[in-house]
Amino acid sequence: MIGVGLIGAGNWGRNLARHFATLPQAELKYICDLNPEIRQAMAVSYPQTVMTDDIRTILSDPNVDAVAVAVDAPLHYRVAKAVLEAGKHVYVEKPLTLVSAEARELVDLAQARHLKLMVGHLLEYHPAVDYMKAMVRRGALGKALYLYFQRVNLGIVRQTENVWWSLAPHDISVACYLFEAEPVSISVSGQSYLQDDIEDVVFGSLKFADGRMAHIHVSWLDPHKIRKVTLVGEQKMVVFDDMEATEKIRIYDKGAEVRRSVESYVEAITLRNGDILIPRIAPGEPLRVECQHFVDCVMSDTTPRSDGEDGLRVVRVLEAGSLSLCRGGEPVGLDTASVAAHA
Ligand SMILES: NC(=O)c1ccc[n+]([C@@H]2O[C@H](COP(=O)([O-])OP(=O)(O)OC[C@H]3O[C@@H](n4cnc5c(N)ncnc54)[C@H](O)[C@@H]3O)[C@@H](O)[C@H]2O)c1
Repeated sequence: MIGVGLIGAGNWGRNLARHFATLPQAELKYICDLNPEIRQAMAVSYPQTVMTDDIRTILSDPNVDAVAVAVDAPLHYRVAKAVLEAGKHVYVEKPLTLVSAEARELVDLAQARHLKLMVGHLLEYHPAVDYMKAMVRRGALGKALYLYFQRVNLGIVRQTENVWWSLAPHDISVACYLFEAEPVSISVSGQSYLQDDIEDVVFGSLKFADGRMAHIHVSWLDPHKIRKVTLVGEQKMVVFDDMEATEKIRIYDKGAEVRRSVESYVEAITLRNGDILIPRIAPGEPLRVECQHFVDCVMSDTTPRSDGEDGLRVVRVLEAGSLSLCRGGEPVGLDTASVAAHA
């Protein structure tokens, strides 16, 4: 058993509480939240768990091995750093931090102290994403060419970070996970309609070194609720629709074959429109899988799938995207962005 503390039990943190309170190898010892109404409600649901408004109560208890952090994103760095400095493993919600230098500092701190640092890149634990990853790995789609993500809805409208920082971490983490690479350049454009300088709708393009590409459309000002990933390969195409209750993955046996002459002129392009397959996806609530993975990594001293380096990579891409957004959509290299952020 490991002793777990939770800091931040708002809209999302309460889901973490539900899992950490019921995983067989974890004991949810503390819930910390500044809001007394939240503490009151949580005390009713979790009578065995101590409620507090002071993170020091958790950090000073030697029976707490690991802490999950689900406070507002601008506080992630400060709270996660305090947890690591107290010698405890930490799970931090996405995005790891809002500045890549701070994410780097957390990664180094965790490494120096031999502690686990895991980031809540939820979709990396989704059975449907696992399925797509396995297809890419065994070449079932042919060469993976490009990906696009649609993550749009009406709300929740955030006031501290824009929609790029709020929603795109999921898509960036999946793009890097599926392609097993990080992008070399990012171009992002968007618009603030509801609040000054907080973009509500953003379109981002990530270019990878070998010509692969990922496009991300995120918005909290949209009539549709869409959570969709489309991956186009040379031989097949696959769509993951998270709004579907059961048939989350569809594999399209569709493609185009280009015949070239010796001089490399295109002679003919033949289109193939084959069957559509809906595979059975292993059951599993992604958040539960993710919480279990954190506990397993702490107990077996193994590196989390979405470790600090993964969190840092996503923050670097977000940062480059922000720079591009400020420059009106101009492509920004990942390294250029880091230099600019440190300047
Ligand atoms: N993985 C996902 O799919 C997902 C989904 C939603 C939100 N999130 C992330 O979860 C985090 C929280 O988002 P939310 O929607 O729950 O926000 P929220 O505002 O509903 O909750 C944040 C909570 O943190 C508490 N808090 C703030 N400062 C604190 C402190 N110093 N000590 C103790 N408690 C403190 C607040 O009282 C509040 O209850 C964000 O980082 C967000 O990006 C992740």
